[in-house]
Amino acid sequence: MIEAIKKRRSVREYLAEAIPEEKINQILMAAMCAPSANALYPWDLVVVSNPETKEILAKATPWSSHAQSAAVVIVVVGHPQKSSEWLEDCSITAEHLWLEATEQGLSSCWIQIRGNDTAEKEIKELLNIPEECRVLCLMPLGKPAVTSPEHGDDKFDKSKVKYEKYK
Ligand SMILES: Cc1cc2nc3c(=O)[nH]c(=O)nc-3n(C[C@H](O)[C@H](O)[C@H](O)COP(=O)(O)O)c2cc1C
Repeated sequence: MIEAIKKRRSVREYLAEAIPEEKINQILMAAMCAPSANALYPWDLVVVSNPETKEILAKATPWSSHAQSAAVVIVVVGHPQKSSEWLEDCSITAEHLWLEATEQGLSSCWIQIRGNDTAEKEIKELLNIPEECRVLCLMPLGKPAVTSPEHGDDKFDKSKVKYEKYK
């Protein structure tokens, strides 16, 4: 497990290669196995592969351009009316799919939407997402066009760990 976790990186350049459906389904399965407060699973995943739609998503924020070259973009949609823990649940789901994508030899890089009201509104209109839902993030998926080094042992930061008490 630690090997897959170390390999997961934010990759923002992808090859123009389609992703087989079985791989996408396995990634979606990983997302669905994420833990969820009270097992409510207050999210939906919109799988976008239409190039024109991806182009609009890529322009949604100043940090979303990599959505364009991704084979698929998974839009993580939360349901605050179903669970007050929608934000936590959506985040874990996104991380699960990112890790499985890495395991499948694919890459991703979280695109933050929550907090950017203009982008969120635009995406909801574009994808017919109901008013009461929230868009947490976009998770592009693609074969990496660049090599990113996996996280090394220097990632272990002793100062971040407190034992027994904070101080
Ligand atoms: C909540 C969150 C929001 C992020 N938003 C963006 C984003 O909008 N665009 C982007 O290119 N990267 C985004 N990132 C990726 C981070 O920049 C990246 O995870 C960080 O630099 C660490 O690099 P690594 O993922 O390769 O370990 C986001 C990551 C997280 C967890």
